[in-house]
Amino acid sequence: MEQLELLREDLAQCDEILLNTLLMRNRIVEQIMAYKEANNIPILQPQREARIEKWLSDSIAGKKHQKEIKEVYDTILRCSKQIQARKIFDYNIVLIGFMGAGKTTISSFLSTLFAMEIVEMDEIIAKREGMSISDIFETYGEEYFRDAETNLLIEMQSKKNVVISCGGGVPLRERNVAEMKKNGKVVLLTAKPETILERVKDDHSRPLIENNKNVEFIGELMEKRREKYTAAADIVIVTDGKSTLEICNELVDQLLKD
Ligand code: S3P
Repeated sequence: MEQLELLREDLAQCDEILLNTLLMRNRIVEQIMAYKEANNIPILQPQREARIEKWLSDSIAGKKHQKEIKEVYDTILRCSKQIQARKIFDYNIVLIGFMGAGKTTISSFLSTLFAMEIVEMDEIIAKREGMSISDIFETYGEEYFRDAETNLLIEMQSKKNVVISCGGGVPLRERNVAEMKKNGKVVLLTAKPETILERVKDDHSRPLIENNKNVEFIGELMEKRREKYTAAADIVIVTDGKSTLEICNELVDQLLKD
């Protein structure tokens, strides 16, 4: 019995050490963020994460309970990303832009780097309706789809710190722009018609361009929408010729300055 009590005391000491270490770790994470902000160093440095992973797998090689330790570390790193995200963004990030501008790609990258929840509007609407976007257009018409978009944006106002990837037509309704701005900063991603064509040419999920996949049509539709997109945007990021990481770094940088 006495031995059991002693072991429990040892365990309690371990927990104390772990807790203090976690508190210290989180404080350092915040200090690093502040340092990067003050010195104009990009906040997103995915190569750092790769290095920590390498260090961990080297350090636990040959040791017991590797899977469990890895799980704990994954959680620590995810939480540390969330701490960073909450410190920088106390609002939703709303990505808008033409079809193929990169909203889905950028939202997914941002969500991995900051452990933020993604709201992919098209995907959620399609799932709720139990059919593809093309089938929704065909069965109920575009207005029905646009109403579903408005309702989803209103629903998102109860959330904070999520990345909302809007369908390309969302900012065309004035009401939608008002709703997304209530608790979100709006980021417009742009790309030249040539870039858009290259990105969407093999995809068949977009009814509005399915039968007109050419630079002229895309350019004209883009021009018709340009004013509304620009008016809705808090910040604008040109995506042509840039890597996903470059775009995300620019986006975070501009959001911090906004
Ligand atoms: C649309 C864009 C699509 C989808 C629907 C209508 C639009 O989303 O919502 O086909 O009006 O621009 P993506 O921009 O994600 O392709």
